[in-house]
Amino acid sequence: MITPITGFSKLKKEEKIDWLLKTYLQNSENSKKVLKQYWNHDDAVQQLHEEFTENTLSNFYLPFGIAPNFLINGELLAIPMTTEESSVIAAASKAAKFWQTRGGFKVEVLNTTKNGQVHFIYKGDKEKLEKFFSETKESLLDSVSDITKNMRKRGGGVLDIELLDKTNLLDGYYQLHCTFETKDSMGANFINSCLEKFADTLKTEANNFESFNDAEKHLEVIMSILSNYVPECLVRVEVSCPVSELYEDKDISHEVFAEKFLTAIKIAEVEPYRAVTHNKGIMNGIDAVVLATGNDFRAVEAGIHAYACKDGSYTSLTHASLENGVFKFWMEIPLALGTVGGLTNLHPLVKVALEILQKPSARELMEIVAVAGLAQNFAAVKSLVTNGIQQGHMKMHLMNILNSQNATPTEKEELIHYFKKHTVTHSNVAEQLEQIRN
Ligand code: MEV
Repeated sequence: MITPITGFSKLKKEEKIDWLLKTYLQNSENSKKVLKQYWNHDDAVQQLHEEFTENTLSNFYLPFGIAPNFLINGELLAIPMTTEESSVIAAASKAAKFWQTRGGFKVEVLNTTKNGQVHFIYKGDKEKLEKFFSETKESLLDSVSDITKNMRKRGGGVLDIELLDKTNLLDGYYQLHCTFETKDSMGANFINSCLEKFADTLKTEANNFESFNDAEKHLEVIMSILSNYVPECLVRVEVSCPVSELYEDKDISHEVFAEKFLTAIKIAEVEPYRAVTHNKGIMNGIDAVVLATGNDFRAVEAGIHAYACKDGSYTSLTHASLENGVFKFWMEIPLALGTVGGLTNLHPLVKVALEILQKPSARELMEIVAVAGLAQNFAAVKSLVTNGIQQGHMKMHLMNILNSQNATPTEKEELIHYFKKHTVTHSNVAEQLEQIRN
């Protein structure tokens, strides 16, 4: 019987590990060894990582790779990607190389407005609330001037505050819908600090507003928080080429490839079961760059999937057309990213990633991330409508299977050679290994 522990966070790291081993891991020496094996040999680096969050026991490695040859608005970039999934980086690299000789990726930031809300309940006279808001808006804006000082110097700040009536959704529900420009920072802390200050000011001003009766003076603030749905923080990316320059192989002509590709996109546009997987493939590229550059991939995921159903049903984020012999493939997505603040100034590998990307602004990073998403989707759909994904995927996965079977370097070399001409499956690899070993 396990008893709950109090004061766990106050224990030293070694004590936390010992408690864990004793309570859940049958004092396994191996688990302890593995946890410690992933500590950084440099104490300062280790401490830095431990302090990113709480109750840290060890570090969790993910591969940090690079996909070269991305021609983006005429500039050639190598994109750092952090992912555990085999074939994601290989697929991105292939798509980059393909489009590099066909004009590259054309990408444009459409807007960069972020938003957040003060959600409150007010069950009084709506006209009085509107009058109160129009008379108080200046005070609301003034109340955050200290918080916004530095951001204003950088050209950002609060853009607007609107009073929105949401009483058709919930009795008495109103909100202050606030918009922000946060320049090169993702801006979560900035936005949330402003919103909490707006909420305080709203309460104080309401309390002093003479036309309100007692109940109205006590409008109830429920919460103040940024939204990760950012449909006004958008980037659009496109590739195009004459059909005659599109992919072909011995089994498929350029034209048939283009038609099949377009139909695959149409299926993702009309069929949510397919759209989710289709968009997951896009997120394979997006998340990998978002992670490598120290941004919040959960926020990005939530915002993009919400955008994928903005018109009422979940649909493909990418679209394609074939007109006058020209194939076009594009995507428009919301992305709230930062290249200053947060992990970007702290995590040593994130700093390197941003250096590899030539120290991009947040707008430039939006462009790069969108490009990675479109490239990933192109590679996935191309495989799906030609050879299927398993051939490439399993080739890349071969190394994982070999490692899981503890193959030696010589065994690996021999089997990599063998599987150039044979189908990779778990059982085939195991069988071949056994043959070599016997
Ligand atoms: C696998 O991680 C991603 C794919 O399933 C995406 C797709 O189906 O488009 C290959």
